[in-house]
Amino acid sequence: MGKRFYITTAIDYTNGAPHLGHAYEKVITDVIARAHRAMGEDVFFLTGLDEHGQKVQQAAAAEGKDPKAYCDELALQWTGLARDLGLSNDDFIRTTEPRHRAVVHAILTKLHASGDLYSQPYHGWYSVKEETFLTEKDRNPDGTWDPKWGQVIPLTEENWYFRMARHQEWLVAHIEANPSFIEPSYRRNEVLGFLRSERLADLCISRPASRLSWGIPLPFAPDWVTYVWFDALTNYITVPAAHGDPAVLEPLGLPATDPSVQAKPVSLWPADVHVIGKDIIKFHAVYWPIMLHAAGLPLPRQILTHGWWQKDGHKLSKSTGNVVDPIAVIREWGLDAFRYYVLRELAIGPDGNWTDEGFQSRYNAELANGLGNLLNRAVNMLGKYRQGVVPAPSHELAADAARAVEATTQRILANDPQGALVAIWDLVNRANLYVEQTQPFKLAKDPAQSQRLDEVLYNLVESCRILAVLLVPFLPDTSRRMLGQLRVDAAPNWSAAAWGGLALGHQVGAPEPLFPRKDLKAKP
Ligand code: ME8
Ligand code: MG
Repeated sequence: MGKRFYITTAIDYTNGAPHLGHAYEKVITDVIARAHRAMGEDVFFLTGLDEHGQKVQQAAAAEGKDPKAYCDELALQWTGLARDLGLSNDDFIRTTEPRHRAVVHAILTKLHASGDLYSQPYHGWYSVKEETFLTEKDRNPDGTWDPKWGQVIPLTEENWYFRMARHQEWLVAHIEANPSFIEPSYRRNEVLGFLRSERLADLCISRPASRLSWGIPLPFAPDWVTYVWFDALTNYITVPAAHGDPAVLEPLGLPATDPSVQAKPVSLWPADVHVIGKDIIKFHAVYWPIMLHAAGLPLPRQILTHGWWQKDGHKLSKSTGNVVDPIAVIREWGLDAFRYYVLRELAIGPDGNWTDEGFQSRYNAELANGLGNLLNRAVNMLGKYRQGVVPAPSHELAADAARAVEATTQRILANDPQGALVAIWDLVNRANLYVEQTQPFKLAKDPAQSQRLDEVLYNLVESCRILAVLLVPFLPDTSRRMLGQLRVDAAPNWSAAAWGGLALGHQVGAPEPLFPRKDLKAKP
């Protein structure tokens, strides 16, 4: 049982509908997962939902619904998003599932036994309206509280804490010794800067069930529920445990209960990549490693942090209507157009800006006129001049194709799907330029140029085949349609991207536009 390449997304709060940011994170994770499959690796891709905690309890209450019923309804929307995005996930976790509760209980029990947890009363100012403790920083300069907090009362509450600082030096050393543990490097520097300058405060990992009931009770103190972040982070080991991974089961002292799982355990942990947004890096790069280390589990290999999307230079916001509905875009333009734009527009790291003009212009220039036109011309001319029969192999564009294959692989290994698409489009543009340079429609008029025409046609259709293979992880449906027109079996593995795959005499199919051209919309 070899360890699989295990990659995860953050799990989204079930307190509203999905937006562009959520969809983006899933698409980049899906692409990395599919690309590793295309490189022949055995991959396990996990995504899911974070359903407990105050935010969700309040959102349910605002709709007058029971939290579980509320989450069940919303979960349909979120699993629908996963389907509409064409995600290749191998499991979908919901933190309200019994399998998750069992693992949260196991890790809490172990940390309790090892002395990493303690309980203590806390005195502070509490906003009844916002159900949260306030600090002196929340107070106005004149000592009053902002009306947004409503009634503010002194409150004493007993809670459970996780001793953090005792693991701090170890964590700094780990991050220093493992440069790719947190990517991009500027995020790593942020985390290191913070860890070197401040002593870590102990983490409050409980909430009294009397004021927050929507959570997982502490196994050793059922009048408290588990803090939602402690609960949520644990999802990354819940799924390996549920699939019988001894790397999680053994340190936590859990049995593999399900006989079917016992018969066929998997090896997933440690995760190879946790893909997350920049706002939740402290949870993933500080608290999560310390939780694992204290519980005797190996650390994930990488925390890959992406930036945030805006639209037209402003924060995405439901209240101002500044939103992009990924499902609506997919319905109008197709899934691969959406995947292409978000991947090509924004590298993994910096913040991005969605504009409808930018989207439409990439669609027309790069998808319709670039890739779509190339395939259409290649298949069309082969049909018209050679009845769709592939001529003898010729190698004029072989070096260009090999460069694209090499660069695509390298860029993916560097977590740079944007760079990979740039490399692939270098080949698209090279092949379109080749049509202009060789003018096959003129060659076709001169019988003396018949052999030259054969060469040109071979180079064009073979470039299209290689493009289709390279595009498998990025634009799976487009890739499938390209291979369909070329009458080539689906080739999920990039090893099929070697030049010369199309054999003399192979019959291709009929041309069909990949990306119907659309008129640019007038600005509203
Ligand atoms: O934070 N652009 O859930 P969440 C890009 N449940 N990414 C964005 C974004 C934007 N505008 N807005 C949000 C949570 N995201 C926790 C995670 S993981 C154990 C628990 C990203 O629904 C955000 O950065 O608020 C995060 O990675 C993901 O969407 C879920 O955010
Ligand atoms: Mg958030």
